[in-house]
Amino acid sequence: MRQIKVFDTTLRDGEQSPGCSMNLAEKIEMAKQLEKLGVDIIEAGFAIASPMDRKSVQAIAAAVSSCTVASLARCTKGDIDAAWDAVKEANHPRIHVFLATSDIHMEYKLQMTREQVLQRIREMVAYAKSFCEDIEFSAEDASRSDWAFLARCYENAIAAGATTLNVPDTVGYSTPQEMRDLISYLRENVKGIAEVDISVHCHNDLGMAVANTLASVQAGATQMECTINGIGERAGNASLEELVMAIRTRRDYYGADTNINTRQIYRSSKLLSTITGVPIAPSKAIVGANAFAHESGIHQHGVIANAQTYEIMNSAEVGIPQNTLVLGKHSGKHALQEKLASMGYELSEEELEGVFTRFKAMADRKKNITGSDLEALVLHRRNNKINVQTGACQLVSHVINTGDGMPNTAYIKLQREDVTMEDVAIGSGPVDSSFKAINRMLGVDVRLDGFSLNAVTDGEDAIGEAVVKIVAPDGEPYTGTGLSTDIIEASIRAYVNGINKMIENTGYPTKE
Ligand code: KIV
Ligand code: ZN
Repeated sequence: MRQIKVFDTTLRDGEQSPGCSMNLAEKIEMAKQLEKLGVDIIEAGFAIASPMDRKSVQAIAAAVSSCTVASLARCTKGDIDAAWDAVKEANHPRIHVFLATSDIHMEYKLQMTREQVLQRIREMVAYAKSFCEDIEFSAEDASRSDWAFLARCYENAIAAGATTLNVPDTVGYSTPQEMRDLISYLRENVKGIAEVDISVHCHNDLGMAVANTLASVQAGATQMECTINGIGERAGNASLEELVMAIRTRRDYYGADTNINTRQIYRSSKLLSTITGVPIAPSKAIVGANAFAHESGIHQHGVIANAQTYEIMNSAEVGIPQNTLVLGKHSGKHALQEKLASMGYELSEEELEGVFTRFKAMADRKKNITGSDLEALVLHRRNNKINVQTGACQLVSHVINTGDGMPNTAYIKLQREDVTMEDVAIGSGPVDSSFKAINRMLGVDVRLDGFSLNAVTDGEDAIGEAVVKIVAPDGEPYTGTGLSTDIIEASIRAYVNGINKMIENTGYPTKE
């Protein structure tokens, strides 16, 4: 059985996609989840892109121990210095250098000749190698490059010390057969290629990223680059969960496997969606709400008789919690901890304390607490951890007055460090008036860019999850999420959470 390496770029290529930006604490939490998931390599960011990127790559390098941690770098000394500085404390550091090799990129973007590109690859891979043993070289737009030239680029990279050669389908243009042929061609025509890993990095512009990656694996690729939920530039990257489950379910066909603990797939997908506020489409393969639902009578009948009639995987294999009644008002902390552990969540004592307090509050309002309710509480625990040092705010109480033919008013009370603030505002609805009251009391000037509400579970006492997208005066977007059985409260919590992220990042608005 061939072992295929999983290179996760959720925190780099994925985070580049609109609406998917994460703050430092969120990136670290996501990286730790990726480690639990069992990915081989985490691409933690693009260190040169900003001081924040460099800091988050550094923090991830320190936070994870079993995975290799990579930082992206263009083929320049400045980029490589920044990448090395960010990953050097990792147990297994990697520098990932890239340079475009297609004629169109070389002529219009780089304004470099083929000879200059070959020389730059040699020099910069060797420069990166002077710091780090593990070097990945990517030929950007490889799938639209001249194959013979591409083979020379990779030979130069190997000669200069690259240990992984990545073949990106940067613009999602390729087809599975073409990727298969390209990988076969490179295996036959690049000297030294048998000694290094061959990686593929496919974008999903034509909806073929997963198929292209799998075809490359068939042709001999030993590493797949992918993201959780397939997030990424434009139409995204190949989705990790789809690749891994295709290879696992069709082991008979691919003759390969990965190190992924598939029972952590659903949790990883949910965590990312909760952090970014980007929902998972119900029909999304593997992790969508309908991925394991059988609606038609004929299918239900078949599944009851023998699950394999219509199920090629089972939901427990990807870690989907069973949505049965689990705990109630009288359950203690120990029972909660055991239930969470059985669902795969291990919390620190402090985290458990916080989740237990919120569990009790929820149990007062909601009779039946299901696996999905508990999962939502755990995934939202970050939102309730107030970082006093950054001056973040906490909702103390709220009173909303709303009705037909009368003004909608909101009274909101917040705590910011040791200061309690309150204000009242009139708005076009309960949510609008609440947000206006918060803006006024904090003196913030943010633009509301998106707002959505979803029920986490079924039933009339379902928990509502609100997602709020705000844009700070400097143009930086922030996503806040909030949870409550009361949808107005969920909305206020989401708004405060978004503002707290802005405060953490910029210090704006100041306390005075
Ligand atoms: O899509 C791409 O080509 C990339 C490279 C930097 C690997 O993301
Ligand atoms: Zn990419």
